[in-house]
Amino acid sequence: MAPLLETNGLSVHFGGLAAVRSVNLAIEPGERLALIGPNGAGKTTFFNLLTGQLKPSSGKVFFKGQDITHASVFSRTHMGMSRSFQITSLFPLQSVMVNAMIGLQGVEKSRYGFYRPMFKDKDLVKAAQELLESQELWDLRDEIVGSLAYGQQRKLEIGLSLASQPELLLLDEPSCGLTMVESADITKRIKALGSKITVLMIAHDMDLVFGVADRVVLLHYGEIACEGTCEEIRQNAMVREIYMGSRKQLGGK
Ligand SMILES: Nc1ncnc2c1ncn2[C@@H]1O[C@H](COP(=O)(O)OP(=O)(O)OP(=O)(O)O)[C@@H](O)[C@H]1O
Ligand SMILES: [Mg+2]
Repeated sequence: MAPLLETNGLSVHFGGLAAVRSVNLAIEPGERLALIGPNGAGKTTFFNLLTGQLKPSSGKVFFKGQDITHASVFSRTHMGMSRSFQITSLFPLQSVMVNAMIGLQGVEKSRYGFYRPMFKDKDLVKAAQELLESQELWDLRDEIVGSLAYGQQRKLEIGLSLASQPELLLLDEPSCGLTMVESADITKRIKALGSKITVLMIAHDMDLVFGVADRVVLLHYGEIACEGTCEEIRQNAMVREIYMGSRKQLGGK
């Protein structure tokens, strides 16, 4: 099967710092791939290159067989790519419902009018309701986002990243800052996404990685240091060394 996403020699430099170095990575449709690596390894930067937030110094990105290296963030979203951020990107002073509507408007500029009051747009209200219901967030619709518990905000953010009905979902540390219970809930939600959505996820939380991933890639100093199945990664000496022998982080007892 042709890969859904492929990078070819993808690199970016910030001045003298090579943050991502010649990364070749292919993701098959339906795959769940976890990207791990120590702080500063270049994981978020790599995501920014995939989504178009950042342009590479060299190399290419292909999505669904098309060269999207120079495509805009919006056109990538339109093609079926969606992303949730490491730090929440919600509108804190607005309600959950308004955030859902803004999220949907951002996806379909032409379908939902920008210049009429949102609540008068029946299609938009209906789509927002369906989205929130499907993510079990409908009960929170009138809550102001900033007043929600952090775990609920993360849940909402991940839910809204599905607004565009993506084929590829990019999640940057989806369980960062969550309690163990909330993190287990996120793991369950990601697993439940179904094979139509391919997932590329950055995670430090090894319970999440081993609970979700088909394949794990370790990024170190901007390069792919090793990759394998969860079991291979668990046993890998280099992974253990890079994580400074922290058995806990690798899910060992
Ligand atoms: N816009 C930028 N300008 C200059 N340097 C940057 C920029 N963005 C990231 N960097 C640097 O690139 C390197 C990789 O950063 P990045 O945020 O991609 O790491 P990460 O693997 O996501 O780390 P973490 O696990 O802490 O989120 C770091 O040294 C960082 O300081
Ligand atoms: Mg990061």
